[in-house]
Formats: sequence, C-alpha cells, structure tokens
Amino acid sequence: MFNLPLMNDNIDKQDIQAVIDFLSQDHIPKLTNGPKVVEFENSWGEWLGTKYNLFVNSGASANELTMLALAHIVGEGEIIVPPLTWISDISSVLFAGHKLVFVDVNFKNLSFDIEKIKAAINSDTKAIFLTHVLGINGLSDELLKICEDNNILLIEDVCESHGTTFKECKVGNFGFASNFSFYFAHHMSTIEGGMISTNNWEFYQICRALRSHGMTREMTSDSMKIAIAMDNPDLNPDFIFLRPAHNFRSTEINAVIGLSQLPKLDIKNQERINNFNYFMSNLDKNKYHTEINTEGNCNYAFIVIMKNADFAERNDLEKKLRNNGIEFRRGLSGGGNQMRQPFFKTKYTDFSNFPNIEHIHNFSWYVGNYPELERNKIDLLIEVLNA
Ligand SMILES: Cc1ncc(COP(=O)(O)O)c(C=O)c1O
Repeated sequence: MFNLPLMNDNIDKQDIQAVIDFLSQDHIPKLTNGPKVVEFENSWGEWLGTKYNLFVNSGASANELTMLALAHIVGEGEIIVPPLTWISDISSVLFAGHKLVFVDVNFKNLSFDIEKIKAAINSDTKAIFLTHVLGINGLSDELLKICEDNNILLIEDVCESHGTTFKECKVGNFGFASNFSFYFAHHMSTIEGGMISTNNWEFYQICRALRSHGMTREMTSDSMKIAIAMDNPDLNPDFIFLRPAHNFRSTEINAVIGLSQLPKLDIKNQERINNFNYFMSNLDKNKYHTEINTEGNCNYAFIVIMKNADFAERNDLEKKLRNNGIEFRRGLSGGGNQMRQPFFKTKYTDFSNFPNIEHIHNFSWYVGNYPELERNKIDLLIEVLNA
C-alpha cells in the first residue's frame, strides 16, 4: 500500500515568502486588482506569446467572460463543445445566451471527431470551443482549416494544458482567445485564478469591461470609451455598463503568487512530461488505449483508458487501485460525458452518435502526475494497471 494522491499543491515556501515580503512593506499596498496584476499579466504574455492577457479569479470565470465577450462581439449563436470537458465550458456557453452543440471526441487527441465537427457546422455556428484535455494537444491542421474555411472562431480552453505545444508553439496561441486556470493543483497556481489570452484588441477591451461588472471605464482604449459615451449621452461615463456581468477580478496577493510561480513552470513541466512519457511507454498496449498522440504533451495527470468495455473488469481494477492507495477520477476531465449531467439528461438521452465519450465515461481514469512523484510510485501504478 502506498500513497499516490490525485493532487499536490504547487505553492511552495518561496511563494509564501513572496507574499509575506509584499505584505510587509512600510506602506501597505492596495490589495485589490492593481499593479501586481498588470505585472503578472505582462509576464504571462511573455511566457505564452500573446499580446493581451487578463487575469481573473478562476478558469471558470475566464470561460464565462470569454463567452460573454463573444456574444457581445459576434452575437449569440451556436457554440460547438466537446462532451469531454469541465462543466464551466458548458455553463459559460449557456450563461452567455449561446446554444450548445455537442460533438463527440476521438481517442487520438481526445479532441473533436473531425468528420462529426464538419457535419455540425451551419450558418449559426459562431465558435468552436476546444478543450485540450489533461495536457494533450487537441489541435490539428484539419481543425484549424475547418475554422478558417468556415470563418468560425476557435476558442482554446487550456486550463488543463499549460505548456502543451502544437508544432512547437504553445497551445493558447492558435485561437481567437484562450483560457487558463491556476487552480491549486494545475500546472501552476495562484490559489484560485485564471487568464484570458488573445491578440485581438477589441475582444480584450470588451473583456476588460466585463471583468468589472461590464463597466466601460475599465477599458484602456480611449476611442472605444468615447464612442460608447457618445452613444449614451444620458449616462455618466464613469458608470456605463456594457452588458450585465459579474465581478471576475482577482487580487494583488494572487498575482504575487503567480509572479513567483511562473519562473518555475517550465522546469516543473519538464518533470511532468518525463513522468507521463515513461508511464505511457510502459502501459500495456493490449489493455489500454495508448495510441494517444503525445507529441507536445504536458500533463498533470496520467491518462488511462481501457480497451475492453467490461464493467466487471473496471470495477475490479478500481478496487485494486483503491486497495493500493492510488487516488483516481473516473471519466477524465469533468467526470466523463457532460450530456449525462442532471440538467441536460432530459434533453439528451440518445448517445448513439457519441460512442467515444460514452466509452471514456465508463472506462477511463486519471491519476495524479506531479514533479515530485517518485519513479517507484509510477512503477507500482503501472504494475497494478498492467496486471
Ligand atoms: C478544462 C477546464 N476548464 C475550466 C476549468 C475551470 O477552472 P477553475 O477550477 O480554475 O475554475 C477547469 C478546472 O479544472 C478545467 O479542467
């Protein structure tokens, strides 16, 4: 029996010291969204390669703000989502007034089935909301071409895949916008937090306003602010709310932690990649789907997908994992098929066009992978799985 917990907190003593130093200044700094947030946003932009970056209080907030801003810029419409994702990728679409269109995933990169996505596109399609699942690159030339040919925006959810690359470029650079999470056990942490990254100036400005209740005074574009003020001469320009939104801001303390975490990200990611590739190359190819394309991968979890759709075998394996002190989550990101969740069940009952997510829902797990994980623990995990 050994102990392999699902998550290991990224925040270390150095990060805590950075917060103590920040709070111990003679003059107590303003602690809400301020200069440290801007500094973190700029450092993040340098790391990722995007021009405009907006720090928010969670990955779910990044999702919600992105979908709200999209509704503002291109209008409400159909958004194609995978059923293998986190719930906020679904709720953000609904909260912003868009229509959800689910398309099944594939076993090669855990992203959309390309043929099915082609069939799902129509004149109401506004965007494809891709999730890079657990550090696996979900992009392909075909997917990018579909977006380009059909004039559809691509939004990348990179909350589970900081540092993953496609053609040697970090994912999060390919879409119109991308979302990241800094939840405590992700690749890096700000306790709670998220980032929206984009190269589009207008989208960035709208997100700035929507991050603070929709207030246009948060924009840094004078021309946009003036145009909106001129359209609303009866309103005090200090209090113009572009559309109903929430307070998605974070704080200086979270940004200080982010600034301390970011320089360690690439080093820690390399450890995770080494662990993951060792794990995958030793997993029994006859028993598990090992054909997942790991090029450019960067995973904080090991991915296990059974080949056999055998419930007795699955239950037996779960018992063995538990008995060995190995924590796991069935269903990969978000617990499997999101269409099976109570609030959708009534609408979606026929999953015959979704065989892959149905298999993943029942016959897959993720297990924690972190830089400090000892090789003998990975060996034991492999031994239990392969047996
Ligand atoms: C794919 C994906 N998107 C969004 C989120 C939401 O991030 P947060 O927990 O920071 O709200 C998560 C959370 O794990 C996620 O896995």
